Amino acid sequence: CNSVSLSIILNLKIMIQLHDKQFVPFISAKEIDFALTKLVAQVEDDFGDDTPIFIGVLNGAFMVAADFLKKYKSPCEVSFIKMASYEGTETTNSVKELIGINQDLSGRSVVIIEDIIDTGNTLEELKHLFKAQNVKHFKVATLFFKPEAYKKDIKIDYIGIRIPNKFIVGYGLDYDGLGRNLTEVYKLAE
Ligand code: IMP
Ligand code: MG
Repeated sequence: CNSVSLSIILNLKIMIQLHDKQFVPFISAKEIDFALTKLVAQVEDDFGDDTPIFIGVLNGAFMVAADFLKKYKSPCEVSFIKMASYEGTETTNSVKELIGINQDLSGRSVVIIEDIIDTGNTLEELKHLFKAQNVKHFKVATLFFKPEAYKKDIKIDYIGIRIPNKFIVGYGLDYDGLGRNLTEVYKLAE
Protein backbone atom coordinates (compact mmCIF):
# COMPACT_ATOMS: atom_id res chain seq x y z
CA CYS A 1 0.00 0.00 0.00
CA ASN A 2 1.86 3.12 -1.20
CA SER A 3 1.31 6.64 0.13
CA VAL A 4 -1.01 7.60 -2.74
CA SER A 5 -3.47 4.79 -2.11
CA LEU A 6 -3.15 5.33 1.63
CA SER A 7 -4.17 8.96 1.24
CA ILE A 8 -7.07 7.89 -0.97
CA ILE A 9 -8.22 5.48 1.73
CA LEU A 10 -7.93 8.19 4.41
CA ASN A 11 -9.80 10.65 2.21
CA LEU A 12 -12.57 8.17 1.55
CA LYS A 13 -13.02 7.68 5.26
CA ILE A 14 -13.70 11.33 5.94
CA MET A 15 -15.64 12.06 2.77
CA ILE A 16 -19.40 12.16 3.26
CA GLN A 17 -22.23 11.62 0.81
CA LEU A 18 -25.45 13.68 0.84
CA HIS A 19 -27.94 12.73 -1.88
CA ASP A 20 -25.88 12.53 -5.11
CA LYS A 21 -22.90 14.63 -3.97
CA GLN A 22 -19.73 14.11 -1.98
CA PHE A 23 -18.33 16.54 0.55
CA VAL A 24 -14.95 16.83 2.28
CA PRO A 25 -14.10 18.39 5.66
CA PHE A 26 -13.48 22.13 5.39
CA ILE A 27 -13.93 24.03 8.68
CA SER A 28 -13.59 22.32 12.06
CA ALA A 29 -15.91 22.73 15.04
CA LYS A 30 -13.01 24.40 16.88
CA GLU A 31 -12.55 27.02 14.16
CA ILE A 32 -16.29 27.71 14.16
CA ASP A 33 -16.33 28.12 17.93
CA PHE A 34 -13.34 30.47 17.80
CA ALA A 35 -14.89 32.64 15.07
CA LEU A 36 -18.20 32.75 16.92
CA THR A 37 -16.55 33.83 20.17
CA LYS A 38 -14.93 36.76 18.33
CA LEU A 39 -18.18 37.64 16.57
CA VAL A 40 -20.12 37.69 19.85
CA ALA A 41 -17.45 39.82 21.57
CA GLN A 42 -17.77 42.48 18.85
CA VAL A 43 -21.55 42.55 19.02
CA GLU A 44 -21.56 42.60 22.83
CA ASP A 45 -19.06 45.47 22.76
CA ASP A 46 -21.48 47.49 20.64
CA PHE A 47 -24.80 46.44 22.19
CA GLY A 48 -24.02 45.24 25.72
CA ASP A 49 -25.72 48.35 27.19
CA ASP A 50 -28.75 48.01 24.97
CA THR A 51 -31.20 45.10 24.82
CA PRO A 52 -30.82 44.03 21.19
CA ILE A 53 -33.21 41.69 19.52
CA PHE A 54 -31.38 39.02 17.59
CA ILE A 55 -33.22 37.76 14.55
CA GLY A 56 -32.07 34.36 13.35
CA VAL A 57 -32.77 33.61 9.71
CA LEU A 58 -34.29 30.15 9.38
CA ASN A 59 -33.64 27.47 8.52
CA GLY A 60 -29.86 27.74 8.22
CA ALA A 61 -29.13 30.01 11.18
CA PHE A 62 -30.77 27.91 13.91
CA MET A 63 -27.47 26.43 15.06
CA VAL A 64 -25.39 29.59 14.87
CA ALA A 65 -28.17 31.50 16.67
CA ALA A 66 -28.23 28.97 19.51
CA ASP A 67 -24.47 28.98 19.98
CA PHE A 68 -24.30 32.76 19.56
CA LEU A 69 -26.91 33.30 22.29
CA LYS A 70 -25.14 30.92 24.68
CA LYS A 71 -21.99 33.04 24.39
CA TYR A 72 -23.80 36.40 24.63
CA LYS A 73 -24.07 37.25 28.34
CA SER A 74 -25.80 40.68 28.32
CA PRO A 75 -29.58 41.23 28.17
CA CYS A 76 -31.02 40.33 24.78
CA GLU A 77 -34.04 38.88 23.02
CA VAL A 78 -34.25 36.44 20.16
CA SER A 79 -36.72 35.78 17.40
CA PHE A 80 -36.68 34.08 14.03
CA ILE A 81 -37.69 34.85 10.50
CA LYS A 82 -37.92 32.34 7.70
CA MET A 83 -36.74 33.18 4.22
CA ALA A 84 -36.05 30.93 1.25
CA SER A 85 -33.91 31.44 -1.85
CA TYR A 86 -31.93 28.28 -2.46
CA GLU A 87 -32.90 25.26 -4.52
CA GLY A 88 -30.32 22.47 -4.42
CA THR A 89 -26.87 24.07 -4.74
CA GLU A 90 -28.09 27.04 -6.80
CA THR A 91 -29.32 30.35 -5.47
CA THR A 92 -32.50 31.73 -6.99
CA ASN A 93 -33.11 35.44 -7.39
CA SER A 94 -36.44 35.63 -5.64
CA VAL A 95 -36.40 35.54 -1.86
CA LYS A 96 -39.65 34.75 -0.09
CA GLU A 97 -40.65 35.52 3.48
CA LEU A 98 -42.25 32.34 4.84
CA ILE A 99 -42.55 33.20 8.55
CA GLY A 100 -42.44 36.82 9.72
CA ILE A 101 -41.86 38.62 13.03
CA ASN A 102 -45.06 39.39 14.95
CA GLN A 103 -43.53 41.84 17.41
CA ASP A 104 -43.20 45.62 17.52
CA LEU A 105 -39.62 46.46 16.57
CA SER A 106 -39.88 50.25 16.49
CA GLY A 107 -37.03 51.88 18.41
CA ARG A 108 -35.27 48.54 18.88
CA SER A 109 -31.75 47.49 17.99
CA VAL A 110 -32.10 44.64 15.55
CA VAL A 111 -29.16 42.35 14.84
CA ILE A 112 -29.71 39.80 12.09
CA ILE A 113 -27.97 36.48 12.68
CA GLU A 114 -27.14 34.69 9.45
CA ASP A 115 -25.39 31.40 8.87
CA ILE A 116 -24.02 32.55 5.53
CA ILE A 117 -24.23 35.49 3.16
CA ASP A 118 -23.74 34.49 -0.45
CA THR A 119 -25.22 36.77 -3.19
CA GLY A 120 -26.80 39.08 -0.62
CA ASN A 121 -30.32 38.66 -2.07
CA THR A 122 -31.70 37.49 1.28
CA LEU A 123 -29.96 40.32 3.11
CA GLU A 124 -31.37 42.92 0.72
CA GLU A 125 -34.86 41.58 1.28
CA LEU A 126 -34.34 41.60 5.07
CA LYS A 127 -33.09 45.18 5.04
CA HIS A 128 -36.11 46.19 3.02
CA LEU A 129 -38.43 44.43 5.49
CA PHE A 130 -36.89 45.94 8.63
CA LYS A 131 -36.43 49.46 7.26
CA ALA A 132 -40.20 49.76 7.12
CA GLN A 133 -40.40 49.04 10.87
CA ASN A 134 -38.66 52.14 12.30
CA VAL A 135 -35.91 50.22 14.07
CA LYS A 136 -33.20 52.15 15.97
CA HIS A 137 -30.32 50.07 14.58
CA PHE A 138 -30.24 47.47 11.86
CA LYS A 139 -27.05 45.41 12.01
CA VAL A 140 -26.03 42.19 10.36
CA ALA A 141 -23.87 39.42 11.80
CA THR A 142 -22.98 36.41 9.70
CA LEU A 143 -20.85 33.41 10.54
CA PHE A 144 -19.80 32.76 6.93
CA PHE A 145 -19.39 35.20 4.05
CA LYS A 146 -18.56 34.54 0.39
CA PRO A 147 -16.97 37.83 -0.81
CA GLU A 148 -16.64 36.61 -4.42
CA ALA A 149 -20.35 35.84 -4.65
CA TYR A 150 -21.60 38.99 -2.92
CA LYS A 151 -23.43 41.33 -5.33
CA LYS A 152 -24.81 44.05 -3.04
CA ASP A 153 -23.55 47.30 -1.47
CA ILE A 154 -25.17 46.68 1.91
CA LYS A 155 -22.58 46.80 4.69
CA ILE A 156 -22.16 43.59 6.64
CA ASP A 157 -21.34 44.70 10.16
CA TYR A 158 -19.96 41.52 11.71
CA ILE A 159 -18.32 38.70 9.76
CA GLY A 160 -17.05 35.43 11.25
CA ILE A 161 -15.21 33.56 8.48
CA ARG A 162 -14.70 34.59 4.84
CA ILE A 163 -14.79 31.60 2.53
CA PRO A 164 -14.19 31.09 -1.22
CA ASN A 165 -17.17 30.74 -3.53
CA LYS A 166 -17.73 27.06 -2.70
CA PHE A 167 -20.90 25.26 -1.69
CA ILE A 168 -20.70 24.17 1.96
CA VAL A 169 -22.84 22.09 4.30
CA GLY A 170 -22.98 21.47 8.04
CA TYR A 171 -23.52 23.55 11.17
CA GLY A 172 -27.05 24.42 10.06
CA LEU A 173 -26.32 24.59 6.32
CA ASP A 174 -27.89 21.99 4.08
CA TYR A 175 -27.79 20.43 0.67
CA ASP A 176 -31.45 19.80 -0.22
CA GLY A 177 -32.36 19.31 3.41
CA LEU A 178 -29.44 17.12 4.45
CA GLY A 179 -26.30 17.97 6.41
CA ARG A 180 -27.66 20.54 8.86
CA ASN A 181 -26.83 18.37 11.86
CA LEU A 182 -23.11 18.10 11.07
CA THR A 183 -21.01 19.83 13.73
CA GLU A 184 -18.23 20.61 11.27
CA VAL A 185 -18.47 22.28 7.87
CA TYR A 186 -17.84 20.32 4.68
CA LYS A 187 -17.37 21.59 1.13
CA LEU A 188 -18.40 20.04 -2.15
CA ALA A 189 -15.66 17.66 -3.35
CA GLU A 190 -13.98 18.84 -6.61
P1 IMP B 1 -28.05 34.70 -0.53
O1 IMP B 1 -29.44 35.25 -0.53
O2 IMP B 1 -27.58 34.34 -1.91
O3 IMP B 1 -27.04 35.60 0.18
O4 IMP B 1 -28.06 33.31 0.19
C1 IMP B 1 -28.43 33.23 1.49
C2 IMP B 1 -28.91 31.86 1.89
O5 IMP B 1 -28.61 30.85 0.94
C3 IMP B 1 -28.19 31.45 3.15
O6 IMP B 1 -28.82 31.96 4.29
C4 IMP B 1 -28.24 29.95 3.06
O7 IMP B 1 -29.44 29.46 3.58
C5 IMP B 1 -28.16 29.67 1.58
N1 IMP B 1 -26.76 29.38 1.17
C6 IMP B 1 -25.86 30.22 0.61
N2 IMP B 1 -24.69 29.63 0.38
C7 IMP B 1 -24.82 28.35 0.81
C8 IMP B 1 -23.93 27.22 0.87
O8 IMP B 1 -22.74 27.25 0.47
N3 IMP B 1 -24.46 26.07 1.39
C9 IMP B 1 -25.74 25.97 1.84
N4 IMP B 1 -26.60 27.01 1.83
C10 IMP B 1 -26.15 28.18 1.31
MG1 MG C 1 -29.99 31.13 5.52
